[in-house]
Amino acid sequence: MNYEHLLVAVTDGVATLTVNRPDKLNALNDRVVDQLHQAALALKQAQEVRGVVLTGAGPKAFIAGADIGDLAKQGVLQGRERSLTGQAMLRAFETMGKPVVAAVNGYCLGGGCELAMACHVRIASDNAKFGQPEVKLGITPGYGGTQRLPRIVGRGNALHLLLSGEQIGAAEALRIGLVSKVVPADKLLAEADKLMRTILANGPLALKLTMEAVDRGLDVTLEEGLRLEADAFGLVAATDDMKEGLTAFLEKRPAKFQGK
Ligand code: COA
Repeated sequence: MNYEHLLVAVTDGVATLTVNRPDKLNALNDRVVDQLHQAALALKQAQEVRGVVLTGAGPKAFIAGADIGDLAKQGVLQGRERSLTGQAMLRAFETMGKPVVAAVNGYCLGGGCELAMACHVRIASDNAKFGQPEVKLGITPGYGGTQRLPRIVGRGNALHLLLSGEQIGAAEALRIGLVSKVVPADKLLAEADKLMRTILANGPLALKLTMEAVDRGLDVTLEEGLRLEADAFGLVAATDDMKEGLTAFLEKRPAKFQGK
């Protein structure tokens, strides 16, 4: 996997995907969006990859948003097209079927915050800054911010961020539930890797079905969501992983899951 603006390194089943445009604070221009989409599809297919850590290059930014230079040139139809294209890229990460952890290492603004929200888990360095500053530019969020932010932090907190355009620090992001953990900047990647290893020690089919139930369940009634959950619970009962997980517990040994 070779990309102009991305770095991909795979170690023991974990791919670290780094957006690599540090001179522009890793802003998402059309090429970066396209390459991220290609990378998400390739990582989904790659047998040797079991999980993905997403981060940004350089000491200052995860991703400082969509590329404002590109946005300045867009017309009505192009704007809608750009929004749909970006949304599809985010969805490719969200529905990869493998856990994706965002390791947020600095500015996480606009499209950067939106991409982080499409990841399954977000952890942040203590110097990270979050925000949806689009309204300051006279635009609306285009990569899912109006939809995922209220689902993650609740309507009130989401509207506060979306309408004020204010930046918040890592501690406040933790308080409102935008991230689930804050760590010292120099430990961020190690912590993300450690969390990913904890996740990957679990049954891979159980992980996939759990992510799917959460993803699909958020958009349906409670009754329908509970049925989705019951279906997943029934499906895992047909897997070797379930037998192995339960037997290993009873035999007081660690489980060895095969993803079957
Ligand atoms: N799009 C395009 N370029 C961007 C960018 C973006 N979203 N964010 C930063 N950059 C570029 C800057 O233009 C600058 O490029 P230059 O050196 O060629 O002039 C470079 O990245 C460094 O940014 P700079 O503004 O000098 O860094 P800073 O530390 O002074 O400020 C920010 C950092 C994040 C506060 C500031 O860059 C910013 O407000 N960026 C835009 C954030 C935003 O509105 N994002 C949402 C877009 S929808």
